[in-house]
Amino acid sequence: MELELKEAARPEDVIAFADAVLSGEPNLIANLANLVSLLNQYLPRINWMGFYLYESGTGDWVLGPFAGKPACTRIGAGQGVVGQALAEGEPLVVDDVFSFPGHIVCDADSRSELVIPISAGGRIVAGLDVDSPEFGRFTGDDVVLLEAVCRRLGERWLDCRWY
Ligand code: SME
Repeated sequence: MELELKEAARPEDVIAFADAVLSGEPNLIANLANLVSLLNQYLPRINWMGFYLYESGTGDWVLGPFAGKPACTRIGAGQGVVGQALAEGEPLVVDDVFSFPGHIVCDADSRSELVIPISAGGRIVAGLDVDSPEFGRFTGDDVVLLEAVCRRLGERWLDCRWY
């Protein structure tokens, strides 16, 4: 597989690339790393993008593969934009992070944020968190595309291994 997205890539190219990543490799960390690289390359005006993974025992969401500045490693259940979206199991678009009660600042450049839950085996196992330095950056089209990628990831999740 060619691990490069063309300059004029379309959403369907991103989906095809994600399918290629997920079908070719069972290692979860490798797949999350390549998916975050792919999406970060595709989506413009983003300052941070990465996965938070459910940790059984604590119930925390723990930092996984990401692109951007070093970030908060652990988010408690229900905390921040990530914790709230993953508790509710629905995509959450925040146009202005300063007006979101409990927002957790990781990168001070972030102005808007989007979280997409990833479900596998009937529960939420992770989330994709995307931050932008622009207010109101995220559109319905972004949600549709990222949900499609996260749905595919969730379908493969239980067949993947962690190391
Ligand atoms: N802002 C998030 C924390 C994660 S960082 O943006 C990478 C939140 O409020 O949950």
